[in-house]
Amino acid sequence: MSTQGDVLKLEVDDTRDAAVIQAGFLPGWVGEGGLRSEPLQDFQSHCWRWKKGKALLQEAATYIDPTKSERRNIRMANPAPGKRTSLSTLHCSYQMVGPGQFARAHRHTVNAGRFILESDGAYTTLNGEKVFMDENDLILTPNWVWHGLGNESESHSVSWIDFLDDPLVSHLQTIFFEVRDEQSSSLPVQDNTPLHIKWADVKRQLARQPNIDSLGRHRIELPSKAIPTMRVLAENLSAGLQTSRSKSTANRLFMGAEGAGVTVVGNNRFAWTRGDVVAVPAWTPFHHETARGGILIEINDEPVKDAFGWYRTLHV
Ligand SMILES: [Fe+2]
Repeated sequence: MSTQGDVLKLEVDDTRDAAVIQAGFLPGWVGEGGLRSEPLQDFQSHCWRWKKGKALLQEAATYIDPTKSERRNIRMANPAPGKRTSLSTLHCSYQMVGPGQFARAHRHTVNAGRFILESDGAYTTLNGEKVFMDENDLILTPNWVWHGLGNESESHSVSWIDFLDDPLVSHLQTIFFEVRDEQSSSLPVQDNTPLHIKWADVKRQLARQPNIDSLGRHRIELPSKAIPTMRVLAENLSAGLQTSRSKSTANRLFMGAEGAGVTVVGNNRFAWTRGDVVAVPAWTPFHHETARGGILIEINDEPVKDAFGWYRTLHV
């Protein structure tokens, strides 16, 4: 008699199952199929370093011309074998635009945003309007919104972290993509769009909302409903803080915004500073520690898991 938790399965035997296989079926009695007590995770926890990414982008700037390539970016591909994306539903890249350059506009069904690392005259065009962005600002580019990327500085490159739901949209086979040329010099400037989350406002909201949640986290949700597959949060880690350890069915990407800390994911300790990105795959225990304090921006896929009743979380 089986106990709760056992999964009945047979070993592979192609001779026994030859008739089924030759008829174009697979025997459902082999292996465990989807009958698992917990989710399998084939993405690894990882940390990508901005210092390294910046050096690689500066090198790429000498041979990748944004008038010949749609974008100049480097993908934070998960180190697990065969992966091209950061996690199974979310992805990040580092991107740079050189002095005076403009990467022409495009739109796609993928929802995206960018977290600005370096800006001296950087702007995103949103449906034909220029939105200038400062360091640590976030710009959202929802499904099917036209967006181009430019830099009016004559001396400095600008750079940011792109975050996207393209692994999810790709898996659902619903990606569409179009490009168009824009005369960036003649576009109007827009300074009041809900797709622009200003860092000064984030800091003000963190100061105004001092509540600590059950995991010891001081964090606020940022207004990101326009990208409905992702939840965006800012988390303030005060000096000496250690949050409680937990795991959940959500994928999470943490971006260092201020200060420094350590995110412990499974058995890995990732020391991060500004611009670094830590990937926490779903159902992997993690917590944060910091000696001198810091602020993280978190992107997660909770809205997708929650929408269908698949969001679970555990203190561990
Ligand atoms: Fe894009």
